[in-house]
Amino acid sequence: MSSPNTSLEAFNTLGLAINAQTLTIAETPDAITLAWKNSQQLNQPFIVLGEGSNVLFLEDFSGSVVVNAIKGITIEEHDEAWHLHVGAGENWHALVEQTLKKGITGLENLALIPGMAGSAPIQNIGAYGVEFKDICHYVEALHLPTQKIIRLYREECQFGYRDSVFKHAMKNDYVIVAVGLRMAKQWKPVLTYGDLTKLNPATVCAWDIFNAICHMRQSKLPDPKITGNVGSFFKNPLITAEHATALIKQWPAIPHYPQASGEMKLAAGWLIDQCGLKGFRVGGAAVHRQQALVLINENHATPQDIVDLAHLVRDRVGQKFDVWLEPEVRFIGARGERNAVEVIS
Ligand code: FAD
Ligand code: EPU
Repeated sequence: MSSPNTSLEAFNTLGLAINAQTLTIAETPDAITLAWKNSQQLNQPFIVLGEGSNVLFLEDFSGSVVVNAIKGITIEEHDEAWHLHVGAGENWHALVEQTLKKGITGLENLALIPGMAGSAPIQNIGAYGVEFKDICHYVEALHLPTQKIIRLYREECQFGYRDSVFKHAMKNDYVIVAVGLRMAKQWKPVLTYGDLTKLNPATVCAWDIFNAICHMRQSKLPDPKITGNVGSFFKNPLITAEHATALIKQWPAIPHYPQASGEMKLAAGWLIDQCGLKGFRVGGAAVHRQQALVLINENHATPQDIVDLAHLVRDRVGQKFDVWLEPEVRFIGARGERNAVEVIS
């Protein structure tokens, strides 16, 4: 299905009122290829979307937007693990719930993350001590120029914190069409984060974790169906050990998480909060009151309102802590992705 001059308001969770030249809902890899070939012929830009929960459209998109709607879930039971093959257009949270209902554990910590299964590898979604890489077996991607589908195993995906090969070498020309997941039958609860530490590892079940996470998330993250947002707007910054030591000396309460690399990860939400920015508004955009890392479309925000607010937040945090935040959300201009740091600097 393809429609011209379409509003993307319902296709980005910030709820920004922007348009695309063409919108296609693609249920097969062939439909994606066809839309891509058409855009090549017209020399128009082309972009694939899942649920638009990690994008900021800066202006109308002067090309073709394809929404990945490739469905299908296949489950295989092996001696030691469950193997799932999941179409890229399956909703992630519905998949989490569906697996738990079938007695398959392992996805519970990643409950309530918006978006599609095919988008999960791109920034290696993560929450509450688990990342996509922990259950990833493979990712299948369509190479648009040759129409070949290639399979990358986990080790080839270059997963990092909110990062993967799909943000770098495979950013252009590839569209993820399926993911393969592997969940061990021998279940080990991950109870390292927040309120999960209060659960008893001896008696806890996966549904307890699922319910606790849904509760924690609902208490601080706005529901995009009610208030436009893209989750954490910025990544949590990684700084050098020396810089961290100086900051901890000055602000002993600063949350800090040592990394295997020797770097220190800080909590961007805390840094923004310390600048007194909760509830701060620019036009229709605002810093969420329950979680300062979330920027919201409070009242008919324009893309420029969000950009101006992000600029102000980055500037205030940078001036106070000499830590320069980088957006997690992907910035999309009229002809394709733009460098987010450059846009808000
Ligand atoms: P989109 O926003 O549609 O796309 C994201 C990027 O991937 C775009 O650049 C797009 O062009 C590209 N893309 C999309 N589909 C494909 C494809 N099939 N092939 C190639 N490229 C593609 N993230 C976390 O990691 N952890 C969280 O806890 C978390 N919580 C969130 C909470 C809220 C309330 C919200 C709104 C967002 C949250 N996010 C979180 C961010 C977001 O949910 C994830 O990044 C999610 O994986 C995005 O999925 P999507 O389908 O909406 O992707
Ligand atoms: N904090 C504040 N004030 C705030 C927000 C946070 O002081 O306004 C403090 C908290 O008290 C806590 C620390 O900052 O000490 C971290 O906060 P939180 O546990 O809420 O997690 P986060 O670092 O803000 C990250 C991810 C989330 C993920 C949660 C849970 C990033 C950029 N964000 O948030 O992912 O759900 O941890 O694991 O890594 C997303 O990527 O969109 C996202 C929502």
